[in-house]
Amino acid sequence: MITGTAQLEYIGMNEAEASDEEHMIIVNVPVRMLGDSEGIVAADVITDKGAVILPAGVDITFFESNMDDLISKMEAHGITHVLLQMTQQLSDRDIDEIIENVYSAGEALISKEKASDIVKGVDNLFHAIRENEISSEVVNSVTNMSSDITEDILKQPSVAFSLGRVREADEYTFVHSFNVAVLTGFLANKLFPDNREFLQKIITGGLLHDMGKAKISPAVLNKPGALDQDEFREMKRHPVLGMTLAMNSGIRDEEILAVIGCHHEKWSGKGYPMGRRGMDIPLSARITAVADVFDALTAKRVYKNPMSSRNAISIILKDAGVHFDLSIARELLVSLGLYPPGSIVSLSDGRTGVVVSGSGKDLVRPVVMIKRPHKKDDLSSPTFVDLKSAAGGLRISNYIGHAEKRELGYEL
Ligand SMILES: [Fe+2]
Repeated sequence: MITGTAQLEYIGMNEAEASDEEHMIIVNVPVRMLGDSEGIVAADVITDKGAVILPAGVDITFFESNMDDLISKMEAHGITHVLLQMTQQLSDRDIDEIIENVYSAGEALISKEKASDIVKGVDNLFHAIRENEISSEVVNSVTNMSSDITEDILKQPSVAFSLGRVREADEYTFVHSFNVAVLTGFLANKLFPDNREFLQKIITGGLLHDMGKAKISPAVLNKPGALDQDEFREMKRHPVLGMTLAMNSGIRDEEILAVIGCHHEKWSGKGYPMGRRGMDIPLSARITAVADVFDALTAKRVYKNPMSSRNAISIILKDAGVHFDLSIARELLVSLGLYPPGSIVSLSDGRTGVVVSGSGKDLVRPVVMIKRPHKKDDLSSPTFVDLKSAAGGLRISNYIGHAEKRELGYEL
């Protein structure tokens, strides 16, 4: 189990992710798919008379211009598959391209522009709190944004590839608030489908959940690494500070206040500020606690690399019943699937792609966006494969790694 109390407790839980860094795998690629493949021939391809058609060690993309001839030749000799050694970590350029394509194909849940506006709204709110200029108008401008997120989630109930990568500590809280709001909304919508009112309240709570941190000293808030006892005591004030700020600016709704005040309570009763236990912790806060920790684990910070969504899910599941409500932790797994959005996977036909939306109840068959080989003049649109309806038993053959959450292109 994870000890400690704040999300900062998860610093240092950066588990052995090194294995995600470099992956050479050998894939048995059907001959007809060679034109769409990249990799090094792993074993000589020889005819039954012993003539070498394709020597081991050669880069298959060298044959790009006469691939059709090569394929015909192999098929004529009854060769159906070629072993290719592939480097499976996609480059930054590949990932950027894929993300652009995800947005342009409308697969992202929330547009980059909208996400950026919401993050700016949370930033303005924090700024106003720090300057003692908080007003119900500033808070309302943030809460109004929650209706936009609510409608987007009701339209697209599967978790899609989106959200931001955080560059600097100071920006973290704003992007984190947005991410928590969206993921909380997803989980709430899965648990209580089409309950627009609850959804909007919990999303509002997600956007505001850390607003008390605006009153925490920046030296503590932005400290890279673990906090000492005094600093931690200071940090632990933020739920109560946040509730007070919210009430002073006119928020009376109990669900919203519960998210702000109770998102660090733990199922075991060992959380803060009140040490509430189990079902005594308001439901909206129990859902937010899962989203909060998930985003903290998968965020890139100056002092830690992002954890993959898969590993974050498994940590949360291990801690279910102690830190988290078991049924909500399970819902996280069901919502995101075994291959959460952002997972880089290879398919059984040898192609590589990035999972762009969750798989719902079918944990192993998400929607994958296929990485196209870089070919000159290839202006065709990206290919999305929904494995639930893909022909020929196409399936994920390997989990390769994960694409980091990307930045929103938002400069502070
Ligand atoms: Fe918090």
